[in-house]
Amino acid sequence: MSKSILVTGAAGFIGFHAALALKKRGDRVVGLDNFNDYYDPSLKRRRAEILKEHGIDVVEADINSRDVLENLFSVHAFTHLLHLAAQAGVRYARENPESYLKSNIDGFLAILETLRHHPKTDLVYASSSSVYGTNVKVPFSVTDRTDHPANLYAATKKSNELMAYCYHHLYGNRMRGLRFFTVYGPWGRPDMALFSFTEAISRGKPIHLFNNGEMERDFTYIDDVVAGTLAAIDCDEEYDVYNLGSHEPAPLLTFVSLIEKELGKAAIKVFEGESSGEVKTTCADISDAQEKLGYAPKTSLEEGIRHFINWYQEYA
Ligand SMILES: NC(=O)c1ccc[n+]([C@@H]2O[C@H](COP(=O)([O-])OP(=O)(O)OC[C@H]3O[C@@H](n4cnc5c(N)ncnc54)[C@H](O)[C@@H]3O)[C@@H](O)[C@H]2O)c1
Repeated sequence: MSKSILVTGAAGFIGFHAALALKKRGDRVVGLDNFNDYYDPSLKRRRAEILKEHGIDVVEADINSRDVLENLFSVHAFTHLLHLAAQAGVRYARENPESYLKSNIDGFLAILETLRHHPKTDLVYASSSSVYGTNVKVPFSVTDRTDHPANLYAATKKSNELMAYCYHHLYGNRMRGLRFFTVYGPWGRPDMALFSFTEAISRGKPIHLFNNGEMERDFTYIDDVVAGTLAAIDCDEEYDVYNLGSHEPAPLLTFVSLIEKELGKAAIKVFEGESSGEVKTTCADISDAQEKLGYAPKTSLEEGIRHFINWYQEYA
């Protein structure tokens, strides 16, 4: 049976792709986004135009607007809420910590308070690999402790998991959290490494590599993340949290050399010292997601970077 789904953060990177995929398989989809200027809003507008062309409206509103949420629920009777709207990014929390509390804590509470009056609506929400914080044991398993966040963003995402559990316990909505691991691909975020490095290298500008470039990231291609997200919408678990990563971390310098190869241009690398907000390694243990969601990431880093750069060269 087709589902009726509210996607918050639909003009964002993951929300855009998830909304399109849901619509394509026949679900009814309504988007919501406040089009804030954390990064160039024209990219968000362009994504929303494409959604519109596919019959998906993106309501321009903040998730803190409880009356807007209530109205949408009364009109659409959503079976699911895919909550992706958030203040993303790790480093920006040093500049604007308030924005994390406003969107990720107050905003998440507004979502939960709306849902408690609609106990039959399932919540699937974005958490983050950042919740593993300063853990050193790899791969990161959903059974590991997650109480040492390395930055405020991570602390808000961990809080979301706790708040979700509490509302599930109190009001019965089913809730499934997704710990995304460094998602990349076409229509990606300009503040993330792939976009910003590609832009800098193309323009002959330097790229800055923290921890002297000695980092590894479990880069996860957007189509794989979307497949895992849709499977989490479809599954019946009452309350759960899943790692959506590739399980194949790549050294940052390998990542850079793949971008160089695809662009046919060498990067000007500036090695920076340690950044305490940046963890050295991320690597997902995806066995739980494999077992319960049938999650099976397939896109190699090389292939995914090629898709991104093809898109970037057309878009930029
Ligand atoms: N991209 C990644 O690698 C990654 C990794 C881990 C977790 N996440 C999480 O996944 C989700 C989606 O991330 P993304 O990469 O698509 O980021 P994004 O910034 O592209 O998308 C988020 C969208 O939410 C909107 N938004 C933010 N605050 C809002 C508010 N208060 N009200 C309404 N809309 C608001 C923004 O305008 C944006 O369009 C976020 O929750 C993010 O924290 C992403």
